[in-house]
Amino acid sequence: MEKVLLFGAGLRGRDYLYTKIQSAVGGGGYCVGILDNSPEKQGSEVHGVPVYPPEKARELEFDKAVICVNEQSRRESMFEQLKSLGVPEEKIQYHKQSDADDKRYGLVQRFSRLAREQNISGAAAECGVFRGAFAKEINKAFPDRKLYLFDTFTGFDERDIAREPSVSKCIEAGLSNQTSIETVMGKMKHPENVIIKKGYVPETFAGVDEVFAFVSLDMDLYAPTLAALEFFAPRMSPGGVICMHDWYNEIVFHIKDALYDFERRSGRRLNKIPLCDELSMVLVF
Ligand SMILES: C[S@@+](CC[C@H](N)C(=O)[O-])C[C@H]1O[C@@H](n2cnc3c(N)ncnc32)[C@H](O)[C@@H]1O
Repeated sequence: MEKVLLFGAGLRGRDYLYTKIQSAVGGGGYCVGILDNSPEKQGSEVHGVPVYPPEKARELEFDKAVICVNEQSRRESMFEQLKSLGVPEEKIQYHKQSDADDKRYGLVQRFSRLAREQNISGAAAECGVFRGAFAKEINKAFPDRKLYLFDTFTGFDERDIAREPSVSKCIEAGLSNQTSIETVMGKMKHPENVIIKKGYVPETFAGVDEVFAFVSLDMDLYAPTLAALEFFAPRMSPGGVICMHDWYNEIVFHIKDALYDFERRSGRRLNKIPLCDELSMVLVF
């Protein structure tokens, strides 16, 4: 099995770990560790993989080292840093863009066109917004529809952490609370359509009386995902879709279990189509 060392414990590193190693369909190999220059990240874990100071490269055994950052200047300096730590040039690779994210963005763009052509009515929603990367794409794709955004905007809730400590521990320490409503709203092309529902899912569903055409579920955790399915499934327009992120990351998440438990409880079998991002499952209503 190929042993991979990552350099960069931020979003690109997490993306590589998700899609190239831990995904049940597109993954493979084994991640021996993640190097990071930031002292706050060293000693933490990203999805069960330890984060080390860069000097650890001297001790670890690996077949390739993958630099996971977007900025050219940082990539170059990290490349030099690895070389200075004795890593041979031919073992060093880069992971820049998130192809996985692009596929999800493509889904919502194409689906919005279909929804217009086929009169698939209803609002859009996302549960698990973080800094609004996908919410921005949903808002752009549906310029004339309401977009409900559900998040604590302060990271994972203590109730969920208590229930799923292993998952919560695997999420990058401190990452999920590095957001705010202002950060998210600043990304929106049509802010007048956005309805922020700040707080704990499922509590923030109270009083929402809508039919939905497009919903993204991306909360990483089993219990709020199950609660969201119970809320949205009966409110979906015929032809509407729910995109469930992290379905294929079975090592860390239990998203698939949430849907299967929903199906068992409701006695309803939902139509599922895998999205080719190695992570998501699309439910078609
Ligand atoms: C993986 S991030 C979402 C990423 C986002 N969809 C994007 O495109 O960048 C998960 C988010 O789910 C939120 N979350 C997790 N459990 C929640 C709950 N029970 N209620 C509300 N928000 C929750 C966290 O606060 C975090 O911002």
